[in-house]
Amino acid sequence: MDANGFSTTLIHAGEGKDEHPAPLTTPIYETTTFIFPDSAELRRYNEGRSQSYLYSRYDNPTVVSVEEKLAAADEAESAAVFGSGMAASSTLLLALLKSGDELVTSAAVYGGTLHMMREFLPKFGVTVRPVSLEALRDPAAVLSDRTRLVWFESPLNPTLRCVDVAGVAAACRAAGAISVIDNTFASPVNQRPLALGVDLVIQSASKYLAGHSDVTAGVITGGAALVREIALTRRRLGGILDPQPAYLLGRSLKTLALRMARHNSSGLAVAQALEGHPHVRAVFYPGLSSHPDYQVACAQMSGFGGMICIEVDGGEAGACRTFDRLRIVRRAASLGGVESVCSLPVLTSHWGYTAEQLAAAGVTPGMMRFSIGLEDPEDLIADIRQALG
Ligand SMILES: Cc1ncc(COP(=O)(O)O)c(C=O)c1O
Repeated sequence: MDANGFSTTLIHAGEGKDEHPAPLTTPIYETTTFIFPDSAELRRYNEGRSQSYLYSRYDNPTVVSVEEKLAAADEAESAAVFGSGMAASSTLLLALLKSGDELVTSAAVYGGTLHMMREFLPKFGVTVRPVSLEALRDPAAVLSDRTRLVWFESPLNPTLRCVDVAGVAAACRAAGAISVIDNTFASPVNQRPLALGVDLVIQSASKYLAGHSDVTAGVITGGAALVREIALTRRRLGGILDPQPAYLLGRSLKTLALRMARHNSSGLAVAQALEGHPHVRAVFYPGLSSHPDYQVACAQMSGFGGMICIEVDGGEAGACRTFDRLRIVRRAASLGGVESVCSLPVLTSHWGYTAEQLAAAGVTPGMMRFSIGLEDPEDLIADIRQALG
């Protein structure tokens, strides 16, 4: 380097020496591009005969490492990660749908997903047909000749209603439609949809998977052929996860099972403690035998998670009063982090819904949604009780 100028020296000195150290953890490959030793290797890469990396919008070792973990978690052949759950969903739909296709979606899915489907897919000639939870109980009856893809969620926001996952998957398979479940609320610890016959699983990794409310990411898992098609579309659309948050996601996944065990036990403890409270009209938690889908949940889930919805006395005013009095549980949207948070569906996920739309979603103005975190459960119970007054 001595013969080179100052800038050339500073740019190249000390770089590219990382072949020998063997780090225990996968490092953050904070690079947009990768060096090829010669043109022959570049040719091998283009012909699919090389393990090299070309460009981080295509693939990156930190990202691939976390994808392997996520595929293993879902017992999937492949996984692809994205810069958000919405990037995962939109890329999946654009990869697999074409003009003339029909998408059947449960009307009861994350609002952002439904808005995205309705705003964008008709522009590309795709028909979006939302169906009710009741209709999904007979999935074969909701499919038509044009149905290419069926999208559903279980458990769902905020009522924690559950859909018979194996039933929907089997009906789709028989009709030649692709089944896609949003498994964000369950996580792979509590529900393995691929083993129940679903083709593709999408999750907002911003929730339980990353688990610390500091990473925005999304993931799709499933069979190698479908995930490859989606990953190639991801190259075009550019929604891949950056190496830095991929590293954090990979680190978080190492404690997913431990965290979920605590979310599960604390979720159940809080739900049981609130059931029967004089100011609580109803507690919605799939692990309570009073939940309308308790039997379905027991059949397909191995734990019930940390999401709880309660309906308090006094409608929206009652919910707002209780919300404003919380001391430990934070008033915030999102879910699945170590901190317990509470949101009011009518002011967040279901803001702007008409009375009829709220009724169709099973949402009432007095509902409060809790994401039970990893604090001591007795502190959370005491906090919610004092807020209820
Ligand atoms: C069930 C569900 N799916 C998908 C998403 C979208 O994920 P993201 O916010 O990571 O884009 C969310 C976000 O709240 C969600 O709750």
